[in-house]
Amino acid sequence: LRIPDIISKKRDGFELTKEEIEFFVSKVVDKSFEGAQLGAMLMAIYLKRLNDAETTCLTHAMTHSGRVLTWPDKWKGQIVDKHSTGGVGDKISLLLVPALAACGMKVPMISGRGLAHTGGTLDKLESIPGFCVHLNHQEMTDILETVGCFIAGQTDDIVPADKIMYASRDVTGTVSNHGLITGSIISKKAAESLDALVLDVKTGKAAVIQDEKSARELATQMVRAGNGLGIKTAALLTNMDAPIGNMIGNSLEVVEAIEGLHGQGREDLYELVESLGGRALFLCGRAEKVEEGCLMIKRVIHDGTADRKFCAMLKAQGVKPDLADSLCSKDANVRELLPKSKKTTKVLCPANGYIHDIDGLKCAEVTCRLGAGRTREGEKIKHGVGLELMKHIGDEAKEGEPWIIVHHNEDELPTHILNTLNHAVVVKSTPFTGIQSRLIDV
Ligand code: URA
Repeated sequence: LRIPDIISKKRDGFELTKEEIEFFVSKVVDKSFEGAQLGAMLMAIYLKRLNDAETTCLTHAMTHSGRVLTWPDKWKGQIVDKHSTGGVGDKISLLLVPALAACGMKVPMISGRGLAHTGGTLDKLESIPGFCVHLNHQEMTDILETVGCFIAGQTDDIVPADKIMYASRDVTGTVSNHGLITGSIISKKAAESLDALVLDVKTGKAAVIQDEKSARELATQMVRAGNGLGIKTAALLTNMDAPIGNMIGNSLEVVEAIEGLHGQGREDLYELVESLGGRALFLCGRAEKVEEGCLMIKRVIHDGTADRKFCAMLKAQGVKPDLADSLCSKDANVRELLPKSKKTTKVLCPANGYIHDIDGLKCAEVTCRLGAGRTREGEKIKHGVGLELMKHIGDEAKEGEPWIIVHHNEDELPTHILNTLNHAVVVKSTPFTGIQSRLIDV
């Protein structure tokens, strides 16, 4: 087999054999696929797609590109996780992972960095000084034993194929492809040897897959793939038009997540955390009904148990105990403890009336341009920059009042950022009466 032949075969729209897909993945991992070849191959897959058989082969080969984690038998039935296809302001994992651990589950989350315009949980967590996303198997097992949860990255040892392909997809315009997303997500989850998995499949203008029909097809494909691997898998199709919560950007989202763990979050944030967590608890039999699971998650957030788990996870993953305790204490000024931008600029409502739309995609593009995301592989990102919403859909707007605050490092806010934000908000004179939240079981 030759690398250029496989690239041309996919470019010309032919189905790849199992052997060819395994060869591709092995050559990605041993780095004989050079950057340009990998970009070309991903683009060929993006344009010509993978069928079900190819997607299954890819997922399998990616899972086995590194070690598949094993856990003590005594945890059988308790090992759960959640994964999202990527959102804007999506800090759900930061609340949900400790909440599930607080409900007695073991949560070995292998997560990712920013992907296209969407933020990455690892990048967010790395804005906490000392937080280490590189864990080996022994460290993972120890943290699950003592704390009950961790959030780590793919490594040279665990799903290395995803680590390499993910970074390349991020900067080559090849993210929104069903086969590649399924391979990426389900390989990570299969390598975690889960009992149950809940998927948050985003749909809407700020989602990776915007069209609802297509997002539903992706959700169905991933549920099938997860169940086919013996993981009890469910998916929720959730709306991703406007940003989730108040904050977009790495440290800003950590601030919001910690405030959420202190009981001061926005309702849209809690709705997602409880809905996804409730389904995860139901899938593994911890709750008899989804609703009961949702209530269990709500309880551990509001009684502070999830916050204490988060604090323990921070310490176990390298954050100095003093800092972790300060971040997680209820009266903490969390913002002062995390990286901040050099400047902030308020952007004002253009008219009197009511907010009818806030374009999550435009907000995400601005956040990336401020430096929170990458345009080249391995690029250093700015942890403190991003956006803070002061208004949400349905709120009354008064001309001259700020609707969003930009956290930036430039001395003056660049005009193109201001222009994009001015186009991101829609104010009308009539009250907003539409539906915002939509969660659909798949
Ligand atoms: N999350 C992942 O881990 N991979 C994708 O491809 C999309 C979201």
